[in-house]
Amino acid sequence: MTVSIKTPPEIEKMRVAGKLASEVLDYITPFVKPGVTTDELDALCHDYMVNVQGVIPAPLDYAPPGYSPYPKSICTSVNHQVCHGVPGPKRLKSGDIVNIDVTVIKDEYHGDTSRMFYVSDPGIQARRLCEVTYESMWRGIEEIKAGKHLGDIGHAIQRFAERHGYSIVREFCGHGIGAKFHEEPQVLHYGQLSTGLRLKAGMIFTVEPMINAGKASIRQMADGWTIVTKDHSLSAQWEHTVLVTETGYEVLTLSAGAPPKPSFHS
Ligand code: MF3
Ligand code: CO
Ligand code: CO
Repeated sequence: MTVSIKTPPEIEKMRVAGKLASEVLDYITPFVKPGVTTDELDALCHDYMVNVQGVIPAPLDYAPPGYSPYPKSICTSVNHQVCHGVPGPKRLKSGDIVNIDVTVIKDEYHGDTSRMFYVSDPGIQARRLCEVTYESMWRGIEEIKAGKHLGDIGHAIQRFAERHGYSIVREFCGHGIGAKFHEEPQVLHYGQLSTGLRLKAGMIFTVEPMINAGKASIRQMADGWTIVTKDHSLSAQWEHTVLVTETGYEVLTLSAGAPPKPSFHS
């Protein structure tokens, strides 16, 4: 396994790409309302990325081995959809929760981030799942520092999510990112302390836990992309792209509208 160490000029480009990706989520936030279709959200994001930001939407036509080319510019995963939800004609309704996942390419480098959105007023259980997932991601990020291990990140995420009675999706993970959308290492959202790859300053990867209110099992829809929970329980995900530093970490996918780091609850 070779995990690249980014050079200072590469890191600077990743900062720019990361901020732009987060700014797409800022832009789309006021449109996430009852009655909008996920296709409309896709078209709005697409136009903003291409015409306003001058970036390439990385998902569009992305075709990893075994997959057909992804047909849209963002992923929109609603309620029991876990990830890679393909935008379509269905309208969001009050009470839905939706993950919007944006990846941009700017000057050849990628920025990848996602947030959960509340459509009007979801119930307490849906909101709690989103909050616990957000804190899980941040607890994972807080572990990041040169000399620590990938397993420390997964352990922190798993411990917190499972303590709240939720389950971690195992089939998808965070990933190294740079000039490629998905590169080494794989960043599992579960694991054991002091195991796995030792982190070095200059590594850049995503942390993007998918957490289910029910069982961990998932299945793929007939579109070849959308992943849903087998038991139809709600699922949530948040994602940041993060740089490892000697003293800790730098989150690259921040912008004015990104929610702050939470205060940690027991
Ligand atoms: N953005 C997703 C991730 O976090 C990947 C989406 S691949 C796509 O890794 F083709 F569905 F867009
Ligand atoms: Co990602
Ligand atoms: Co993503």
